[in-house]
Order: sequence, then C-alpha cells, then structure tokens
Amino acid sequence: MKILSVVGARPQFVKCAPVSRELRKVHEEILVHTGQHYDYLLSEVFFRDLGIPAPDYHLDIGSGSHGVQTGRMLAAVEEVIAKEEPDLVLVYGDTNSTLAGALAAAKVHVPVAHVEAGLRSFDRRMPEEVNRVLTDHCSDILFCPTATAVANLAAEGVTAGVHLTGDVMVDALQQNLPLAKERSTALIDLGLSPKGYFLATVHRASNTDDPAALRAIMDAFARLDAPVVFPVHPRTRKKFAEYGIAPAANVSVVEPLPYFDMLALLSGARAVLTDSGGVQKEAYILEVPCVTLRENTEWVETLEDGWNVLVGADADRIVAEADAAGMRVISPYRVLRDRAL
Ligand code: UD1
Repeated sequence: MKILSVVGARPQFVKCAPVSRELRKVHEEILVHTGQHYDYLLSEVFFRDLGIPAPDYHLDIGSGSHGVQTGRMLAAVEEVIAKEEPDLVLVYGDTNSTLAGALAAAKVHVPVAHVEAGLRSFDRRMPEEVNRVLTDHCSDILFCPTATAVANLAAEGVTAGVHLTGDVMVDALQQNLPLAKERSTALIDLGLSPKGYFLATVHRASNTDDPAALRAIMDAFARLDAPVVFPVHPRTRKKFAEYGIAPAANVSVVEPLPYFDMLALLSGARAVLTDSGGVQKEAYILEVPCVTLRENTEWVETLEDGWNVLVGADADRIVAEADAAGMRVISPYRVLRDRAL
C-alpha cells in the first residue's frame, strides 16, 4: 500500500518516528513535512535524533494565522496527493497540519487514518480541539490511544474504523529513554541534580496570548523553592519581549530542547509544570508528578489518582501544587493499572 504521511509540528515528529519505522517494513511511505515548524530546534533536530527518514516533500508553509496556515497547507497537500495518488493519508495528533492533511485527502476521496484519534478536552476555544474533532469526523481509520478516546468517539456517533491501539508516544519513549540517558549531558550542562529542579514548558495560546496569564505563571515560577528549567517555545519568547516579562533568577530560560535532552530533564525533574498535552503524558509514563497550567486536559487518565493536577494560570495554585507534587510518591495502584493498560 502507498501511504502518504503528513507531519509538520514537533509532537508529530516524535509520534511518526516509531510508526514510520514499522510502516516501511511492509508499505511504501511518502513523508510530507508541511513546514509548520521550521526552526532547527523544533524540526530538523528531531529528524536527526529520532532517525526519521528525510521528507519526500517539504511544503515550507511556515507561520501565519490559523486560516492562512491551514489553507496554504490544504492546497499544497492536495497537490501532493494528486501527484502521488496514495491509497491512504496518515495524520497525527491535533495541529493545523493534521487537519489540513485529513481534509485535503477526504475532499478527493482518499481514505484518512488518524493516529491519536478520539482525544477531547471539550474546550472548543482551543485550536487543537477543533482540529481533533474535524479530523476524526473525516477519518476512515481511527487509532485511539486510550479507552476514553474510544468512548469519546462513540459519544459522537463514530464507531466504524475505530481501533484501540495504545499510545505511540509510549513506543517513542521506550525506544529513546535508554539513548537519552546514555547521550544527554543536559543535567550536567545546566548544573542540576536529580529531583532538585522543576521543568517547565508554556506555549498554549490561552497562556501566551494573555499577558495576565503569562505574568501569573512567571510570578509563580519565581516563588518556587528550586531552580526551574524552562525550554522556551519561540512563540513564548516573543511574548516575553512584547509584555516586558523578565524571568526571575531561579528560572533558566533555555532554547527548545532536542528530544533526548527533554527526556533526560523530564525523567530527572522533581515535577513538571506544563501546558503541553504531550509533556503531561510523558511525565505520567516516566512517573514524574505533573502540574498542568490549563483548566482542562485531553489526557484525563493522568488525573485519576492525583498524579497530574490542573491549576490553570493561577499563581497561588501553581505554587501550592508544585510544592505538593515534589512530595508525591508513586502509588502501587497506579503502577499496576498502567501495566494493565
Ligand atoms: C503547534 C500546535 C500545537 C502543538 C505545538 C507544539 C496548532 C494549532 N498548534 O503550536 O498543538 O502543541 O505546535 O510545539 O497546530 N514559530 C517559530 N518557529 C517555528 C515554529 C513556530 O518561531 O519553527 C513561532 C511563530 O511565530 C508562530 C508561533 O511560533 O507564529 C506559533 O507556531 P505554530 O506552529 O502556529 O503553533 P505552535 O504554538 O507551535
């Protein structure tokens, strides 16, 4: 079968690496990079470290408003589909690249497969939620990471072509954690001791595009009693400059991290503070307590036993939960349940 895979943003590179490796054993894969992420540290370094084959097509779409970015991708992916005539288009996750790939294929009657189908935050103000819902509803094959995702689809009347596959991020993590531990010198380079620091990431529009929210988050980080390592997304860095926010002395703002360094820093952290969906899940798998800087999450399983907590952009809640997270121990129930998943 000829499969056209569409990727474009950092989390999709992580997800496509293990899938692509298996796919290519039996199928022909044409890899399309939309160019949504174009900085070396958000894109190329992931292809290099994860051994992802070079894209067959690089669409160079770059940044823009949601409509402009998605629209350009839609037109460009359609052209590639016309040229390659694939049997299936494969998309990952919930970004604008996901929606554009799925919609381009569905419009010309090429079957669509969606990896990470069925996740819902039930917050339609998130661009990712709109992308998830629309992608799922034009997909023919829906690969769900969790039983909750299968139930979410059923509640929307989507039951055909639904498969509970588990989460490909677990595969990526299991394959790469030993390499990360062997190769990454991030802790030493940053002068950190295991469990002696917090790791933070912030890039969601709801936090970065609201000066009060971003300020509250940075104020909370300043009040934590340990160093905070903060690999900063380009969007967030721009907002620091725009709002005149200067990180406190205990906050090390560093460039976006390559995957291996991110895994090493995550697995060594006392707790992680994040608004990323992927990082919440990675923290959960690595048994690192997570404080989520959002009011909702699509990974609801991580909340069940208090391993992950939702605190929004409320400085007092962030500080209280970060302090408490440092004290959390792994419940035997959680470990047993995860083995059964
Ligand atoms: C996108 C995804 C989000 C995902 C995230 C991972 C959507 C709607 N959002 O958000 O779900 O969690 O990727 O990182 O698809 N920029 C650069 N260099 C780059 C890429 C972006 O400077 O290589 C800047 C640009 O100013 C751009 C802004 O970051 O306007 C936002 O980038 P964009 O790709 O639109 O969304 P993300 O915030 O990265």
